[in-house]
Amino acid sequence: MSGPVRLIVLGATGRMGRAVLTAAVAAPEVAVVGAVSRSAEGEPVPGSPRRFTTAAEAFAALDRAVAVDFTRAEAVAAHAAAAAAAGVPLVEGTTGLDAEADAALRRAAGRIPVVLAPNLSPGIAVLRRMLALAARAGLGGEATLLERHHRHKKDAPSGTARLLARSLGRDGEAEPAIVSLRQGEIVGEHTVWLGGEDEELVLTHRALDRGLFARGALRAAVWAAGAGPGLHTMDDVLGLREGPQT
Ligand SMILES: NC(=O)c1ccc[n+]([C@@H]2O[C@H](COP(=O)([O-])OP(=O)(O)OC[C@H]3O[C@@H](n4cnc5c(N)ncnc54)[C@H](OP(=O)(O)O)[C@@H]3O)[C@@H](O)[C@H]2O)c1
Repeated sequence: MSGPVRLIVLGATGRMGRAVLTAAVAAPEVAVVGAVSRSAEGEPVPGSPRRFTTAAEAFAALDRAVAVDFTRAEAVAAHAAAAAAAGVPLVEGTTGLDAEADAALRRAAGRIPVVLAPNLSPGIAVLRRMLALAARAGLGGEATLLERHHRHKKDAPSGTARLLARSLGRDGEAEPAIVSLRQGEIVGEHTVWLGGEDEELVLTHRALDRGLFARGALRAAVWAAGAGPGLHTMDDVLGLREGPQT
């Protein structure tokens, strides 16, 4: 694709959708061409020239676009199927996905690039690498995770906490304990305790502003516009695949 990447924002009136529309204003590499929201039908969405009530309508009306999705788990299977049918690359930022959504994204990835990114921050991608390294050194045995988010967050534990737990590479073993707190307007905080009898390693990631995830989504969308079909992650977007440990 030449020129700015044409963006369709799903969940455009939500907290993350609005953050993406705001971040896009300062990002010449993207141009928002459509916003999808079911509520307040007919009203314009600030930051988008056109609004639609369903993803399928937007995909039919707008060609050569990439979609970013920040909605709810129950909407994801339909969004994935519509994107695949229309040939629209998809950045999936929604968390708390169930088996149906997961299967739909995998099916869609046979036809379009899908970036499956329960956390779009570079810092979390690096933290995952660090955890994999710690697990290799035998520090993952008694891991505990604490995640804190704003009180409106629907899913618990957070998609990021699950992702971090998987990075400890303990397939087939008991999952690390995850403690979830919902407090005030916290954007997102994850702390991992690792250790054994005689040492302790404590790693914390703090998202200070939702714009972090929004900018990550734009970066993923630009990357997806040039990618082939497949199920990709932020490791692919950030070029971390060649790192010391997956
Ligand atoms: N990947 C990341 O880095 C990252 C970072 C932050 C948040 N998230 C995730 O992003 C998602 C959205 O978070 P948020 O804080 O923006 O939530 P939010 O403020 O509740 O916004 C979600 C939006 O989705 C739309 N929606 C709700 N149910 C829908 C359905 N069944 N079909 C289609 N659209 C629906 C709603 O808009 P309308 O009612 O107008 O349609 C709503 O504005 C959550 O899963 C959250 O965990 C991911």
